[in-house]
Amino acid sequence: MLYEIQTYGKEVLRRKTEKIPEIDNAIRKVVNNMFETMYAAEGIGLAAPQVDKSIRLFIVDLSPLEEDEGKRVFINPEIYVYGGESDEYEEGCLSLPTVREIVTRPTCIKIRYQNLDGDHIDEEVCEFLARVIQHEYDHLEQTLFTDHLSSLKRSLLKKTLNKIARGEIEVEASENFEL
Ligand code: NI
Repeated sequence: MLYEIQTYGKEVLRRKTEKIPEIDNAIRKVVNNMFETMYAAEGIGLAAPQVDKSIRLFIVDLSPLEEDEGKRVFINPEIYVYGGESDEYEEGCLSLPTVREIVTRPTCIKIRYQNLDGDHIDEEVCEFLARVIQHEYDHLEQTLFTDHLSSLKRSLLKKTLNKIARGEIEVEASENFEL
């Protein structure tokens, strides 16, 4: 089942997310639907608030870029170390159609989370996967990538953001690998 992707201006993107107490069939179903929704939109990452669910869950699949090993599910994640070095990359987001901006982020992170089997995993992640994880994790923290931009950059984007909020720009599958 495809979910409707929530775009800029929707309250759910700024709503606090709740920890998932138990990984049951209902959660497995949400995860399956999120993968279906993400692939349909040609995204490589998707967080639960983007499909109107205020829970601490996001998914990533970098295989369209031939990086990493495919489907990853992050449940109740916690990034507990942000590395010292940083790099720049032009990000996009399924919730911010047509907007693409350079975002500076730490190159490496350490993250704890549960997978779909409920295993507790603790790993250090670097480079592109670390960027995608930070972007999706931000969605669980009510943060959009545009929040990381300078106030000048944000003011230049205001018109476009208002258009998205009014529903004048819709989510379309693109070849840009949105997050
Ligand atoms: Ni996003």
